[in-house]
Amino acid sequence: MPTPTDFNDRMLSLGLARVSEAAAIASARLIGRGDEKAADQAAVNAMRTQLNMLDIAGVVVIGEGERDEAPMLFIGEEVGTGNGPGVDIALDPLEGTTLTAKDMPNALTVIAMGPRGTMLHAPDVYMDKLAVGPGFKQGVVTLDMSPSERVKALAKAKKCAATDITVCILERPRHEDMIDEVRATGASIRLITDGDVAGVMHCAEPLVTGIDMYMGSGGAPEGVLAASALKCMGGQIYGRLLFRNDDEKARARKAGITDLDRIYARDEMVTDHVIFAATGVTSGSLVAGIKREVGYLTTETILMRSKTGSVRRMTYRNPTS
Ligand code: FBP
Repeated sequence: MPTPTDFNDRMLSLGLARVSEAAAIASARLIGRGDEKAADQAAVNAMRTQLNMLDIAGVVVIGEGERDEAPMLFIGEEVGTGNGPGVDIALDPLEGTTLTAKDMPNALTVIAMGPRGTMLHAPDVYMDKLAVGPGFKQGVVTLDMSPSERVKALAKAKKCAATDITVCILERPRHEDMIDEVRATGASIRLITDGDVAGVMHCAEPLVTGIDMYMGSGGAPEGVLAASALKCMGGQIYGRLLFRNDDEKARARKAGITDLDRIYARDEMVTDHVIFAATGVTSGSLVAGIKREVGYLTTETILMRSKTGSVRRMTYRNPTS
């Protein structure tokens, strides 16, 4: 008999896929309806209901917000039946609420699970992120390099010209200088309007997605989710928390972070084995979006385990009535 502390990732992984599928299906009717909040709420409700059916003693480490903001799936919320292994859970019931509301590509439902105490308790602040796919020596690019140095270093490692490199960046005014500097190297840029978990994941399959590197700042919680994904798919991600004021610093300290300037590598954000599931809501290059047919919804989910490096793509056809 397994002890209650065993993290039986093989058995839990299908349950995790069900959780992300349920969130996607719940948000399906809100795709393209212009209501981000309603889409997010539908995904949150469904994810929570499904999570509470799993035989785990789960704690939400990366969630929808702080307990006092009273959301569901708040940081610290206990989920699962309580009969099972103690696990950390990182989730984003709808990664890309605006993408969903506007029916733009790459909105996902995302969830990761690891043994208790193995995920960085990242507060809801920004994180400076840098990611590349598998096959490069550790530290081939670093957060301390300038954007142009990163492009040149990656081009050298790939034995190609800077013009053959494509970088993915969130389109934000705060990234204007970075975008100019990367363009000056000759590299091309895939600008995304939202959804940097998908942005980072794209680096792991450059031949499919055409993206070699991700850089720029986005949500720190999304950084931990992206680290979970790359731990399964292979690839490097580095993150450094960014603070705009003392309140944000206080939130980091409350979450147990003492060195506010620390650069976290992938395995420092997620220190042990992890399982990861993401279901496509709108169309994307990693997984298909929800397909509607009369009487059915079909979803595609990517389900991965870091222990084995296994990557499953699963389609699920679900009657709508
Ligand atoms: P939501 O899913 O909460 O809408 O977040 C989308 C997102 O684009 C993330 O992928 C990204 O990390 C973050 O927002 C960027 O934040 P900001 O919009 O403030 O630049």
